[in-house]
Amino acid sequence: MPEAKIDIREIEYGTEDYEQTLYLRHEVLRRPWGRSIAEDDLDHEANDLLIGAFAGEKLVGLGTLVWLEDDAAQARYMAIDEAYRQEGIGSRILETLENAAREAGKSKMILNAREKAIPFYEKHGYSLTGELKVPPFIPIPHAMMEKNL
Ligand SMILES: CC(C)(COP(=O)(O)OP(=O)(O)OC[C@H]1O[C@@H](n2cnc3c(N)ncnc32)[C@H](O)[C@@H]1OP(=O)(O)O)[C@@H](O)C(=O)NCCC(=O)NCCS
Repeated sequence: MPEAKIDIREIEYGTEDYEQTLYLRHEVLRRPWGRSIAEDDLDHEANDLLIGAFAGEKLVGLGTLVWLEDDAAQARYMAIDEAYRQEGIGSRILETLENAAREAGKSKMILNAREKAIPFYEKHGYSLTGELKVPPFIPIPHAMMEKNL
């Protein structure tokens, strides 16, 4: 089913590829909990870095980077199409975000991990910095993690 060749590239805010990110995020991160991506305020994404994984023209994975004011950046919205998981795509996206943060002079990455994704981030060198908490947007526990770049 999944194609062998996956391209990792930047997505520009407001383009057709950006529209695909809304659909993917809705399907992977919101719809299973009866929520909608339309509830998220995404205006700030004009300033964020969005990295997509493409099988041909189809978006099959996403991760975004928010530039924080201090020496840190925050990885957000990591979402891989269910049919394309366990193939290293999430790792490639996360590494691309980390490299971009490093090149911009950031020394730390932070993120708010879903409980089930914590082992994935631990394998990438992240450590827990907070307790598991249920955020307002979806009813599953998340915990803050960070990594020195
Ligand atoms: C968490 C998530 C982003 C990880 O993405 P992914 O593309 O599946 O991640 P990877 O394939 O890079 O790594 C996952 C596992 O596959 C393994 N893997 C990587 N390449 C592989 C390959 N070619 N063949 C087999 N396994 C492979 C990795 O070693 C890793 O092992 P683990 O399960 O023991 O951790 C993805 O599962 C997802 O979108 N989940 C749902 C949404 C979510 O929870 N997002 C995170 C919000 S904080």
